[in-house]
Amino acid sequence: MKRTRWYKDGVFYQIWPRSFKDGNGDGMGDLYGVYEKLDYLKSLGVDGIWFSPLYPSPCADCGYDISDYYNIAEEFGGMEAFRKVLDGAHERGMKVIMDLVVNHTSDEHEWFQKSRRRIEPYTDYYIWRPKRPDGKLPNNWDSMFEGKAWQWDDVRQEYYLHLFAIKQPDLNMDNPLVRQEVVKILRFWLDMGIDGFREDVITFISKREGLPDASIPAMRGIFHYNLGPRLHEFLTQFRKEAFSDYDCVTIAESALITPEKALEFISEGEENELDMVIQFQCMCADCLFTDFVPMPFSLYRLKNAFSSWQEKLDGKAWNMLYLENHDHPRIISRYGSEQFRIQSGKMLCAMYLFQKGTPFIYQGQEIGMINWRAESVSQYEDVQTINHCPHWPEDKRLRLYHRASRDNARTPVQWDSTEHAGFTTGTPWFTVNPNYREINVAAAEADPDSLLHFYRKAIKLRKELSAVRFGKYKEYFRLSGTFYVYAMESPSQRVLVICSFSSEAKYFRAPRGYDLAKGKLVLSNYGSSLRNNGFTSMPYETRVYVFE
Ligand code: NOJ
Repeated sequence: MKRTRWYKDGVFYQIWPRSFKDGNGDGMGDLYGVYEKLDYLKSLGVDGIWFSPLYPSPCADCGYDISDYYNIAEEFGGMEAFRKVLDGAHERGMKVIMDLVVNHTSDEHEWFQKSRRRIEPYTDYYIWRPKRPDGKLPNNWDSMFEGKAWQWDDVRQEYYLHLFAIKQPDLNMDNPLVRQEVVKILRFWLDMGIDGFREDVITFISKREGLPDASIPAMRGIFHYNLGPRLHEFLTQFRKEAFSDYDCVTIAESALITPEKALEFISEGEENELDMVIQFQCMCADCLFTDFVPMPFSLYRLKNAFSSWQEKLDGKAWNMLYLENHDHPRIISRYGSEQFRIQSGKMLCAMYLFQKGTPFIYQGQEIGMINWRAESVSQYEDVQTINHCPHWPEDKRLRLYHRASRDNARTPVQWDSTEHAGFTTGTPWFTVNPNYREINVAAAEADPDSLLHFYRKAIKLRKELSAVRFGKYKEYFRLSGTFYVYAMESPSQRVLVICSFSSEAKYFRAPRGYDLAKGKLVLSNYGSSLRNNGFTSMPYETRVYVFE
């Protein structure tokens, strides 16, 4: 199948279904709610939707623990509602991509139930290890969410590996039968008409032979199972036996990946293993590897991350651009300022939307939703959060979770100022952020100066500016601790993006070669006045100039 790489012209919107919109009043977001909001999504200018998992699941990890790969959960409306949304999106010219979670399944999946009873052919579908004579665990790896990476199973009388929660046993991808299952799943959904997959922790699927002990204590094990020895082989098989028959997109989530490593998978060619990578470097400007090890925000780290991916992938591979998703706290609360919520939200929008790649916007980001302040630890739902340092005193946990928890991004979308933010007519499954009376879609629609309208304008502009798609990225004033300034430059057009990360007024002077008076100011969050080829930038000011 000839690949058109349609995703290069698109902007995606991520839906985390439980919290997007409830359409049937049971308190849980669902596909009826999504259907109601398709026109809203279209009005934003997005060209595609990424759905976090919609499959049946006991929800130990909010759907990332799948118990049936061939169905849509009843609570989301089942297959009928899904087909309606798929058709509705396609009719509006929007693509639909699904989450593929095959590093692990739910322990309630039939494969696991049969595997623990040694029923063929499922016996080796998972990674089982016997008890050691010395009584120690099979190796010293930690799981991401719950203690050690090994769980004893009374039925099989062996340990199984779980890199995430106990209820998420890892599949044994070395088993060719498991890979056949993956191919079958991919073809099933692609045949139904979906347009691609976001692949969950896909760089974890090949484990090193012998599962050796980890010598580095931090994130114990990750260096042994990330980017494992047979990863290229597995991904190539998926490409050849499934993806290459469809004009679809594949986006790999990959922790700890560098641009150099990513190029091994995403360098463009007819058979490249993957199309884009969800890297984490852009999410580490205020933490050390994970949000749960916070550090002061560093603009240098932020600029370095974005610039290095822009520069190193240029002409070779395609970037996936994002600032928020369901795994990270809200971006205004992190890289922006809650005090200057609208202005910093606009600046962050311009900061990433004019770079080369395919931008993703996460639900609620477009109206500037911010972190949620829980009153007690018992209000948290997320398995990663509640298992993080459970022995700490409550107030210390609350402080850390407020800053780091994924639940910050999982409170229901705030649609209007009515009860439960218009998310549901029932009782919401999760706390609605009490700031919904001020921060909601209806209020943003009514205010011409809102962040929502700014996103609309930025998305539209991005599509009109050829240099964003075809130009070359160039960063200016790398050493500035206040401004992030870059340009997309092509022979016929230059787009200059100026972003202040300061809450104070600071003078900005244009880089050499740019005469601001000759440029067209196409987007800004304050005024347009100029002084000496520069301006006094206001808190979190942003300006986008076009030179033709
Ligand atoms: C990454 C997903 O984005 C996250 O939400 C999930 O908890 C883990 N993978 C495990 O599937």
